[in-house]
Amino acid sequence: PETGCLSIIVLGASGDLAKKKTFPALFHLYRQGFIQSQDVHIFGYARSKISDDDLRARIRGYLTPCKGCEKTHDEDVVQFLQLIKYVSGAYDTEEGFRSLDKAISEYELSKNSTEGSSRRLFYLALPPSVYPSVCKMIKSYCMNKSDLGGWTRIVVEKPFGRDLDSAEELSSQIGELFDEPQIYRIDHYLGKELVQNLMVLRFANRFFLPLWNRDNISNIQIVFREDFGTEGRGGYFDQYGIIRDIIQNHLLQVLCLVAMEKPVSLKPEHVRDEKVKVLQSVLPIEDSEVVLGQYEGYTDDPTVPDNSNTPTFATMVLRIHNERWEGVPFIMKAGKALNSRKAEIRVQFKDVPGDIYKCKKQGRNEFVIRLQPSEAMYMKLTVKQPGLEMTTVQSELDLSYGQRYQETIIPEAYERLILDTIRGDQQHFVRRDELKAAWQIFTPLLHKIDRGELKSLPYKPGSRGPSQADQLAEKAGYVQTHGYIWIPPTL
Ligand code: BG6
Repeated sequence: PETGCLSIIVLGASGDLAKKKTFPALFHLYRQGFIQSQDVHIFGYARSKISDDDLRARIRGYLTPCKGCEKTHDEDVVQFLQLIKYVSGAYDTEEGFRSLDKAISEYELSKNSTEGSSRRLFYLALPPSVYPSVCKMIKSYCMNKSDLGGWTRIVVEKPFGRDLDSAEELSSQIGELFDEPQIYRIDHYLGKELVQNLMVLRFANRFFLPLWNRDNISNIQIVFREDFGTEGRGGYFDQYGIIRDIIQNHLLQVLCLVAMEKPVSLKPEHVRDEKVKVLQSVLPIEDSEVVLGQYEGYTDDPTVPDNSNTPTFATMVLRIHNERWEGVPFIMKAGKALNSRKAEIRVQFKDVPGDIYKCKKQGRNEFVIRLQPSEAMYMKLTVKQPGLEMTTVQSELDLSYGQRYQETIIPEAYERLILDTIRGDQQHFVRRDELKAAWQIFTPLLHKIDRGELKSLPYKPGSRGPSQADQLAEKAGYVQTHGYIWIPPTL
C-alpha cells in the first residue's frame, strides 16, 4: 500500500453534493479506518468567505451514525471535523489556487513527508461549466510536488456535457491537462452493492452461463422509479431531463454489465474494453420505440419554463446488434414522481417449449435483481401448489440481503467509489471512450426532443407514468404476470 500524506480537496465544499454525499462518505471511510488522522487531511474549497468552523458546522448535520457506532458518534464527528480545513477562493483565479496549494504544502511539510510520497485527490463537487478552468488552475498551481512519488487525481461527476459534441469538447479540455489514469468520472450507480455484484453473478455461476442469451431470454428491463418530483432542482433538471439525468449514465452502465462479454481479466482496462464494445453495438433508437412523459405540475416550479417539453419520464427500447443479443429488447425505463421508489433489473425468459402444465397462465420465469431499496435477487419460477391437488403456482427463490446478511453493513455507493479513487482502481469509473459511446447512442434522440419533434405526454404524479409506456413494453415482448407481487421479507 502507498504511504505518505493524502490530501483530499473538495472543491465546491459548501454545495449540495459535497454536503450530502462527499463529506458523509469521507466520514464513513474515516469511521471504518480507511482514512486515518495521521496521514489524511481534508480541504474544503469554495467561493464564500467562511471560516473552518463555519464549514464544519454546515457539514455536521449530514454526518449520520453508521450501524453499530452510535455510541461513539459524537466523538467521531468532532475528530473527523478537525481534519477539515477551509480555503476560500474563486474557481478561475490564480490567487485562490495558490493559497490552496500553500495550505496543502504546509500540511505535507508538517507531516515531514520525506517518509513517503504526497497524494492529492481533487474532488470536483462543482457544475461542469467550471471544470475546464478549475482543472487548468489545479494543473498550474496545485500538482503534487514530492520527489518521492505520489500522484494528483481528479474526480468529476456528471453531467459530462449535454450531447456528443459538448461531452467531447469537455473531454478534450480536461484531456489536455490530465492523463486518463488521473481522471475518475463517477457514476454512483457503479458503486451500488448489487451493481458491483453483476459481474460476479454472471461470470462466477454456471447456472447463468448457458441461459444468458437470445436463445433463452425474451427481454430485459432496467428500471428506475422515484416517488418524488424534481422539488428544488427544477432549474437544473429542466436543462437535462430524465434521459440525461438517469438513462444515459446510470441505467446504461447497468446495461453494460448485464450485456457485456466476459472480460479477459478483472483488470480495469479489460472490463472497460468490454463495456465499450457493448455500447458500440447498440443500434440507433427508433422513434416508435420511445415514450416520453412529464408529470402534471412539473412546470409549476418557478424555475421551470411554462412551455417546457423536458421529459421527467422515459421508456425506450435499446437493441444490441451482436451474436448474443440480437432480437432481445432492452427496455429502459426511468421516471420521477411515480407510484414507487425502486431500481431493478428484470430478466424475463421465454415461454417453456412443449408446455404440459399451462405455465403460460402462471407467468414466465424471471430473474430480478433489485438494486434498491431492500437489495435482493429473486427468481420467479413455477412450482407445484403445495397440497393434494396437482396445480401449479408461481413462487420465488429469494436472496434478500437484509435477511441473509443481517450483520453486514452495505456501504454507500460514494464511500466505495472514493475509496477506489484513493487506491487507484478505475474499474468502476467511466472511461473517455465509454462516455463517448454512451452519448453517441442518445444524442440523435435528445436533439429531436430538444427541437420539440418528440413530445412528452402528461401523467399524474403518483401514477405508473403514461400508459403508452406499458404498451410499448408489451409490444416489445414483455409479459406481465398479473396478480403476482414480490414482497420483501420482513426481519
Ligand atoms: C442522480 C440524479 O444522479 O441520481 C437524481 O441526478 C436522482 O435525479 C439520483 O435522484 C438517484 O440516485 P439514487 O442513488 O438515490 O438512486
